[in-house]
Amino acid sequence: MIKHEKIETNATLLLILSFLVVTIGGLVQITPLFYLQNTIEKVAGPRPYTPLELAGRNIYVREGCYLCHSQMIRPFRDEVERYGHYSLAAESQYDHPFQWGSKRTGPDLARVGGKYSDEWQRQHLADPRSVVPESVMPGYAFLAGKDLDYRNIGNHLKTLTLVGVPYDKGQIDNAAADLQAQATGDNADAMLKRYPKSQARDYDGDPKRITEMDALVSYLQMLGTLVDFSTFKPDVSR
Ligand code: HEC
Repeated sequence: MIKHEKIETNATLLLILSFLVVTIGGLVQITPLFYLQNTIEKVAGPRPYTPLELAGRNIYVREGCYLCHSQMIRPFRDEVERYGHYSLAAESQYDHPFQWGSKRTGPDLARVGGKYSDEWQRQHLADPRSVVPESVMPGYAFLAGKDLDYRNIGNHLKTLTLVGVPYDKGQIDNAAADLQAQATGDNADAMLKRYPKSQARDYDGDPKRITEMDALVSYLQMLGTLVDFSTFKPDVSR
């Protein structure tokens, strides 16, 4: 009782002892991380985003889609039954910043790729209530009318290499051409080779223009499609 009072009435002593406690607690949490070779399990499939997908992802962030949508399926039965295989750390390893989100006004989008047609995605984005009458999602019809600004896309790829995204020289040098190829489907062979499991087509239904809708739909259509879960086995030895 008396000893306790001594600490509580002496600000300096309290500060020093609090600091000690926090230091020890911090070390216990942080030190083991330095001895792990990698905190992300190696998984076959994940690749950096194509330039068009990356541009779409930027629009997703710009429009604040993450405020209503998460991109992380938790390893619980109800989530896995609704959304598919739980999310792996490796699936968001090239996300800067990650889009796990913290609120689900709408459903999780981590595996929405391929769930609907491009046409459904466009229609839903333009006017959500025309396909889901009870939806509270805002409409984003303007995306289809806005030309995509991709003048800096090569620099964007290059910048991401600074934080460890493994874009190679060919991918950086051809970023704008790859973006055009993916959004039109024309001359897309080189691009499809540079980005395994990517797809190229006119996503917004307007072959004459490359719009923000092209980019966003291409991003939505690839989400969660890179890992082949028919062959994936979790590494339980770690
Ligand atoms: C105010 C909250 C809110 C915002 C902001 C929002 N959404 Fe939604 N979203 C919802 C709700 C609620 C649903 C479920 C009803 C529906 O399908 O419209 C939904 C559904 C969806 C679906 C269908 C998912 C599925 O599995 O059926 C997609 C795809 C989607 N949203 C994408 C987006 C994108 C992309 C953005 C940003 C441009 C966005 N949303 C912004 C609330 C939101």
